[in-house]
Order: sequence, then C-alpha cells, then structure tokens
Amino acid sequence: MEINKISVIGGGTMGNGITHVFALKGYTVNLVELNNELIEKAILSITKNLDRQVKKEVISEKEKNTALSNINKVVGIENIPKDSDLVIEAIYENKEAKLNVFKKINPIIKENSIFASNTSSISITELSSVCRADKFIGMHFMNPVPVMKLVEIIRGYSTSDETFQTIKTLAEKLDKVPVEVFDYPGFISNRILMPMINEAIFSLMEGVASAEDIDTVMKLGMNHPMGPLTLADFIGLDVCLAIMEVLYNGFNDSKYRPCPLLKKMVAAGKLGRKSGEGFFKYN
Ligand code: NAI
Repeated sequence: MEINKISVIGGGTMGNGITHVFALKGYTVNLVELNNELIEKAILSITKNLDRQVKKEVISEKEKNTALSNINKVVGIENIPKDSDLVIEAIYENKEAKLNVFKKINPIIKENSIFASNTSSISITELSSVCRADKFIGMHFMNPVPVMKLVEIIRGYSTSDETFQTIKTLAEKLDKVPVEVFDYPGFISNRILMPMINEAIFSLMEGVASAEDIDTVMKLGMNHPMGPLTLADFIGLDVCLAIMEVLYNGFNDSKYRPCPLLKKMVAAGKLGRKSGEGFFKYN
C-alpha cells in the first residue's frame, strides 16, 4: 500500500519529532493536538530543530521551509482528515487514553488505512482490539526522532504481513533502520534497558556506589555514551517506573519488580530533568 498522507496524534516530544522527519521527506503530515496553543508549541519545536539542521548544513533553508509547509495543523481528533493513509498515535503513555483515541478515529478514517502507536510499553494487541487489528502495528521511534536511526516495528497478534511490510518499507524511506519485534511486554528496547536502569537504582539504594560512580562504571567500563542514572533522568523517572510496572505485571515475574527508591523518588516528584531533579540536579 502507498503511504502519502500521514496524521500524527499528539505533538509532544515524540509527536513533533515524528512530524519533523516525515515532513522533511516530503510527506503531507496532519499534526493533531488538543488546542491551538499546543499545536503552535509543537511547530515552534519543529522549527527550532530544523533550524539546528540548517546551521549544521544537514539541510538547506529551502528544505526547511518546504518541510514546514508540508505540515497541516488539526485541533481535536474529531477533525482528523479521513483520507489519512497512516495514523501514528503519540499521546502520553496511558492505555485508557490511547484506547479512547483509537475507538474515536476508527469510524472516521477510511477503511484501508493503517493505525500505528508509538507506545513504549503498552500491548499492541490490546490497543488493536478496539479497531482494525490486522491493520494495526507498533511504530516505536526513539528520542530524539530526527537523530536516532532505530524504529522498533511491533507486530500485534493479528497484524497482517502486508501491514508489516508497508510500515517496514516506510521506515526505510525515512532512512531509519527498522527491526521486527513481536508483542511482548517492553518489546526489545525497554525489556533490556529498563531492568538495567532499575538495577543501577538498586545499586544506589544499597549503597554499593554513588550515582556518579555508577554512571562512570557504565560509561568508561562498558562504553555506554550515557550512564544509566543520567539516562533515567533524561527519560523521566515516572516513565521508567511505568515501564517497570508493565514488565512486572506483564510477565508476573519478580525479577522485574521496580526498585523502592525509584517509587519513592516518583512519589516525591523527583522525576529527572523535567522536574529539575532526579538522581542529579538540573538548572
Ligand atoms: P508528551 O507528553 O511529550 O506528548 C504527548 C502529547 O499528546 C501532548 O502534547 C498532549 O497535548 C497530546 N495529546 C494528549 N491527548 C491527546 C489527544 N486526545 N489528541 C491530541 N493530542 C493529545 O509525550 P511523549 O514523551 O511525546 O510520549 C508520547 C508517546 O511516545 C508515549 O506513548 C511514550 O511512551 C512514547 N515514547 C516516548 C519516548 C520519550 O523518550 N519521550 C520514547 C519513545 C516512545
């Protein structure tokens, strides 16, 4: 199936990045947000990120302007254009809210279109159960989307081969590297990353080493570009906790139990960079 028109629901961190990469490749993108203010905020972020690429001579001023002209602003999911070939949902990580979005858009969007979710951890099979399950797939971009090459393509229980092939080809057209993943809690990225971060937090809680030293071990000893605690602050400790809960509940296995220190920090509102403090302090 040919994909030309794309609708992205949610213009936050991930949604504006996804809009950016599609618009830059010449696709028409309808960016759907809750209100005008949020749309303008998303467009401002996209403009700033495109400007950065112009400055680095990755793209030209003309390419930037063409990309911006490829984006249509849509307020409210009830106004999503019905001729969208692909809808990518990138609202916050809440199962009920996502199910509600898919239930609402299913009768609006033409029948042969594909629905995708950028969820980090919620079951693709479960999200697909309220709409067109064979044309439903996980398209898990990494943050920041314009920079990161990987896209996990997650097949739900009923995702058709045709849907998978269409989305795989589309990811390649964006110059991304798609990997095929089946629908189990945390997919691959978070199933491996989050227990490592959780173990780093256990090590801190048990006094094995300081936060700085734990990060130094993983940076210099394992060649990771960022230590696990710095990375947790970057992702958001609330997000890390939510993903650990998905792993713990999804597998019913105590090896995924979230560290009590992680729970305590989230309860205290120490969420990492976005709140100004997590394992480290930020201005
Ligand atoms: P965010 O909180 O930055 O953005 C969510 C946006 O969705 C907000 O701007 C909000 O106004 C909008 N929204 C909420 N309900 C809406 C509705 N009904 N209609 C239209 N817009 C609506 O969230 P973020 O970080 O962009 O995450 C989005 C999704 O991507 C989540 O599922 C998350 O798990 C996933 N993800 C996040 C990554 C990250 O590093 N932040 C990495 C990979 C995936």
